Amino acid sequence: MTIHIGATPGQIAETVLMPGDPYRAKWAAETFLEDAELVNEVRGMLGFTGTWRGHRVTIQGSGMGMPSLSIYANELIQDYGAQTLIRIGSCGAMQDHVAIRDVILAMSATSISTPSLGFFKEVNFAPTANFDLLCKAFQAAQAKGITPHTGGIYSADVFYSERPDLDDVMQRHGILAVEMEAAELYILAARHGRRALAVLTVSDHLKTHEALPASEREKSFGDMVEIALEAAFS
Ligand code: HPA
Repeated sequence: MTIHIGATPGQIAETVLMPGDPYRAKWAAETFLEDAELVNEVRGMLGFTGTWRGHRVTIQGSGMGMPSLSIYANELIQDYGAQTLIRIGSCGAMQDHVAIRDVILAMSATSISTPSLGFFKEVNFAPTANFDLLCKAFQAAQAKGITPHTGGIYSADVFYSERPDLDDVMQRHGILAVEMEAAELYILAARHGRRALAVLTVSDHLKTHEALPASEREKSFGDMVEIALEAAFS
């Protein structure tokens, strides 16, 4: 047990999928895992461990934003020995050629700040996905008939931004989409020698203001879970 995760050490698998929403963790575990067992419910941040094609997997909610993800990722890595951590979540598209429902594999995650800002001091570290996971996720998506966008994303600290000029900077530098967790996940994985990737589905578009209808969210979320599982174990 840690401060925020109630599981005993053996109850967490070496491969962990991390949706922001704990109810998505529950849905994904019930839908894709065999023998899924609830291993955490501290603060309602649900976590489940089960098997997928014989491989042990934990699906643990991260909460929203980098400070929340940092708590869970730190404990999963340092106390439970997680080796592979894959964020599965939604994002807002920032480019015209990226559409609602598209899948994005985040090669890098730019940020204004992360919980690691104080750690790095003057260093401007470049948070980067694990290349092996990235390649395997790309292949897994293609095998499902999905061509994912692969490139840089922006991990923001605010959902309700009052700085449209920042969106402009990101767009001009080819950033595909905005979300709120990946940069710190990549940093923690790098610091501790673990593998990390963010597989994202576009739920809204910052330029067209379209949004994925609630009725369609489950299907697109399911594709992401399968891509993440294939990437982890292929
Ligand atoms: N901004 C930040 N995070 C997000 C968004 C967004 O527009 N959409 C989904 N996650």
